[in-house]
Amino acid sequence: MSTIKVGLLGFGTIGTGVVRNFQKNSSIISQRLGSKLELAKIADLDIETDRGVQLGADTLTSNVEDVISNPEIDVVIELIGGYEPAKSFILKAIENGKHIVTANKALMAVHGQEIIAAANKHSVSVMFEAAVGGGIPIISSIKENLCSNEFSSVFGILNGTCNFILTKMTEEGSDFAPVLQEAQELGYAEADPTFDIEGIDTAHKIALLSALCFGTKVDFEQVYVEGITKISAIDIEFAEQMGYKIKLLAIGKNHGDQIEVRVHPTMISKNYQLADINGVFNAVRLVGDFCGPTLLYGSGAGMDATASAVMGDVIAIGRDIVSGAKQRMPIMGYCEDQIRSLPIKAMNDVVSHYYLRFTTADQTSVLAKIAGCLGSHNISIQSMLQPEEREVDSVSIVLMTHAAKEADISAALVEIEKLDVVLQPTCLIRVEADPV
Ligand code: HSE
Repeated sequence: MSTIKVGLLGFGTIGTGVVRNFQKNSSIISQRLGSKLELAKIADLDIETDRGVQLGADTLTSNVEDVISNPEIDVVIELIGGYEPAKSFILKAIENGKHIVTANKALMAVHGQEIIAAANKHSVSVMFEAAVGGGIPIISSIKENLCSNEFSSVFGILNGTCNFILTKMTEEGSDFAPVLQEAQELGYAEADPTFDIEGIDTAHKIALLSALCFGTKVDFEQVYVEGITKISAIDIEFAEQMGYKIKLLAIGKNHGDQIEVRVHPTMISKNYQLADINGVFNAVRLVGDFCGPTLLYGSGAGMDATASAVMGDVIAIGRDIVSGAKQRMPIMGYCEDQIRSLPIKAMNDVVSHYYLRFTTADQTSVLAKIAGCLGSHNISIQSMLQPEEREVDSVSIVLMTHAAKEADISAALVEIEKLDVVLQPTCLIRVEADPV
């Protein structure tokens, strides 16, 4: 039996999971691959910390060149994360003819085209299943199993930290800040949770999924991103009363000549499948013209689930090596010369339903003034909620609109917030009223 040699860059949590998977399931892997898989080298700046796994005497190195320029190594796994030095290491490994497996969503979403161009030049594979949805096999499903479909949409709950926070806020009626602190104490949220709670991590993932589903380049700078930091317990409570849950939803829609790619807190009906995805779990719901609505659900993060995705990619590349196939699978699932550059719909042109919560003086005619501003911008009110409880000096007025254009909503809110009876900035949450 031949041996395929693998090098690993980054020996953190996921890297440790990869080593564990290599060691625990080595015979299953060989039986499925038809070759032995050997983890030949692991490079990390920290070669002292005990990760609880046994390694051969020469496996660990602090010199990255032992992996990326090692003539014996066929496949390099990159688990360093971030843009640099991960990008430079990957590009050098590609130049040296190594296939790449990475979990690096930020790098692939922002610099993926440069990496793909280099890989195509050197006829090597780049796989990144672990970059989206942890252990959920979403990328291979899009590229392989569902590849005869034209996709009309891909929606996701793609950040376990945010989903944990929103679930807890919903279940316990808590506000954002204490639940974030709990998420950090439990180790779900990073010490610096910015990428998670500001929606950036989710945006990286939906940019990749939209590119894969719709066969287009996605300019990450054009993706609208809004995180969950402004969501309050009161909005979750009102959403509940109106039959909705609030989720950080990643939205990709295919309009043929343009696409929508956006991330923001979104109200979805309590009866919609994604409303039931709770805690740290992730889910992706895509709609293909032949497969129909399809939901994939599972662990979106964590050592073992993410290692499973990494190892699946390593074995897929190993199978190509064994069979002599070269770049059998186009990196983004479409032949390179067929990938389009579809524009992303500007946020101002997006049409949605809107939840609006106004904090106003408790006076006569307030509602009439607000409704007048909305009406003058073609915004029609679908329903209204005015809770009995009142602050001493103010009341909440909650409106749900019919479908309206974002530009009209923005213009109406500018006028409304100039009214002297409106005491605080309006809370706006978009509503996916009729998702397929
Ligand atoms: N930090 C992410 C999450 C996992 O909370 O889901 C890695 O993208």
